[in-house]
Amino acid sequence: MAKSVTAFTCTACGATHRKWSGRCEACGEWNTIIEEAPLSQGPGRGLGAVRGKPVPLSGLSTLEAPPPRACSGMTEFDRVLGGGVVPGSAILVGGDPGIGKSTLLLQATAALARNGQNAIYLSGEEASAQVRLRAQRLGLSDAPVRLGAETALRNILTTLDAEKPDVAVIDSIQTLWSDTVEAAPGSVSQVRSAAHELVTFAKRSGTAIILVGHVTKEGQIAGPRVVEHMVDTVIYFEGERGHQFRILRAVKNRFGPADEIGVFEMTGGGLAEVTNPSALFLSERGQPVPGSAVFAGIEGTRPVLTEIQALVAPSTLASPRRTVVGLDSGRVSTILAVLEARCAIPFAGLDVFLNVAGGMRVNEPAADLAIAAALLSAREDIALPPEAVIFGEISLSGALRPVAQAENRLKEAQKLGFSRAILPEAQKVEGMAGMRIDRISDLTGFVGETFGA
Ligand code: TYD
Ligand code: MG
Repeated sequence: MAKSVTAFTCTACGATHRKWSGRCEACGEWNTIIEEAPLSQGPGRGLGAVRGKPVPLSGLSTLEAPPPRACSGMTEFDRVLGGGVVPGSAILVGGDPGIGKSTLLLQATAALARNGQNAIYLSGEEASAQVRLRAQRLGLSDAPVRLGAETALRNILTTLDAEKPDVAVIDSIQTLWSDTVEAAPGSVSQVRSAAHELVTFAKRSGTAIILVGHVTKEGQIAGPRVVEHMVDTVIYFEGERGHQFRILRAVKNRFGPADEIGVFEMTGGGLAEVTNPSALFLSERGQPVPGSAVFAGIEGTRPVLTEIQALVAPSTLASPRRTVVGLDSGRVSTILAVLEARCAIPFAGLDVFLNVAGGMRVNEPAADLAIAAALLSAREDIALPPEAVIFGEISLSGALRPVAQAENRLKEAQKLGFSRAILPEAQKVEGMAGMRIDRISDLTGFVGETFGA
């Protein structure tokens, strides 16, 4: 006899529990466990009826080449996906509400359609007429893209099965409901079940499915992380409210490099691609000021220069402020501790504010030296040489470690008019004529050379 089992699932990590509790034992998060609709368990728990036949790897070479990727012609969008949409893949695009996901995907769908792909945009949030209005505003009314407004999963699958599009955008996964699950749309079990059915459909039919997902306040795609595990590619669309820039970032990609970014600017006429992000992120730099360091970073496969800004001021608080925007605050604490312990430069009693200009996020350890340079420059009130870019990883001993792709970083810097680089002594650099290279063995040496302390 089939029996129902109620499950409790953590929305943060997707772990299932037998009973509710305030804290998830798997990931340690509080208040993330919610009850899920009962799953019916059939009697058939033995062996399956179908026997699979594994194929030797060497035998696969005779199979035909995979179908080509669908390119939209929006370079930034295609690059983040690893060179276009892979047929039959499932892609999740997450982001805060209002960040521009619908705008981006409507533009991308139109671009795909113009490029000869059979593309369809299904909205569960807006009526077709509203989507058409938006498309008109974006100047896309003539694109051969097809629109639909549907929230019932079963109807969506029927539509896709009949239309057989190359690419289908579903905006958003939280509005879908499936009649096999007794729970409200947007709930964990609905989101999971809808995602599962759509991913299965994508694999079977060869239609690439792009799912839009809203991110909750805590920065997770609503519904459990399980959706992220199910799809091939997870992309976040991020940006600061006060900034025009939007960054499309691949956090997982089975068909391309993760960490690849695409940069867009939100304009009155939709999202415009930014082909030279370094120039954009550095465009607000004026006179050399203390606390500003230019970091030559790598985002995915592309070098991107960013400005790291620091402000250090006497604190009136018992435990001084550490306000960090766009950088990992744990990393910043480590750098502050290394400066204190290895170079005898204390930051106790000082408020520290750190920021990456332009609303960019920098996660590379290679940014360590630039962060330390910005902090020291702000603390000593001495501006860093404005013609220099900085990179290098700081170890806990205060030594500097070389980083990957130094030449790419330096070539980008040279293109933007920088003539000097401050980098670790052990860094191998070849063929960078015309660039002055200052090599530094450890943090103490850097402090001595740059700030004369
Ligand atoms: P939207 O794509 O609806 O966001 P999401 O789907 O992520 O919730 O974008 C909404 C925001 O974008 C809204 O605040 C207005 C802004 N926007 C522009 O600035 N220019 C435009 O051309 C469009 C269509 C939207
Ligand atoms: Mg939307």
